[in-house]
Amino acid sequence: MSLQSTGSNGGGLAKRRVIVTGSACGLGAAFVEVLAQEGAQVVIGGDVLHAEDQALADRLGANMHFEKLDFADPADIDSLVQKAAQKIGGIDSLINNAAITNSGGWLAGELSIETWDAVMNVNVRGHMAHEYRGAALSA
Ligand SMILES: NC(=O)c1ccc[n+]([C@@H]2O[C@H](COP(=O)([O-])OP(=O)(O)OC[C@H]3O[C@@H](n4cnc5c(N)ncnc54)[C@H](O)[C@@H]3O)[C@@H](O)[C@H]2O)c1
Repeated sequence: MSLQSTGSNGGGLAKRRVIVTGSACGLGAAFVEVLAQEGAQVVIGGDVLHAEDQALADRLGANMHFEKLDFADPADIDSLVQKAAQKIGGIDSLINNAAITNSGGWLAGELSIETWDAVMNVNVRGHMAHEYRGAALSA
């Protein structure tokens, strides 16, 4: 996989300060791998898969930082953004990738209330909260 920046900051991903959520597996882990190869500073915002996330951070080196993150918990989101500010001085980009991905394929009425709430808290509220908190650091 390769990524190319076309932004107005001169291009390239080197030294970019990026948060990737849901980075323990799947697309999130692939994003982190490419960002690491390109020399970005990546804050890894993990989730319930702490061990997998930490193993990825350990393998990829010193520019990688692992922080605990449950996207359903607003306090975790605040904590992640604050730690990003402390460790790398701000944020250039957010890759809001974390999601509950095994809830599709059913009609809304077929989902339990617990599943509905969990999906909304992570996939909707979590994403919005992270974008607003993160935007404050990118100003
Ligand atoms: N794979 C596809 O074809 C596809 C297509 C369209 C959109 N997407 C989107 O891309 C993203 C990644 O997809 P994927 O296929 O890699 O999914 P995945 O299920 O493999 O990975 C999702 C990641 O989010 C994490 N996560 C789940 N709940 C969390 C929580 N409460 N807090 C923090 N992290 C949590 C998971 O542990 C996992 O690391 C998702 O947002 C998905 O909706 C994927």
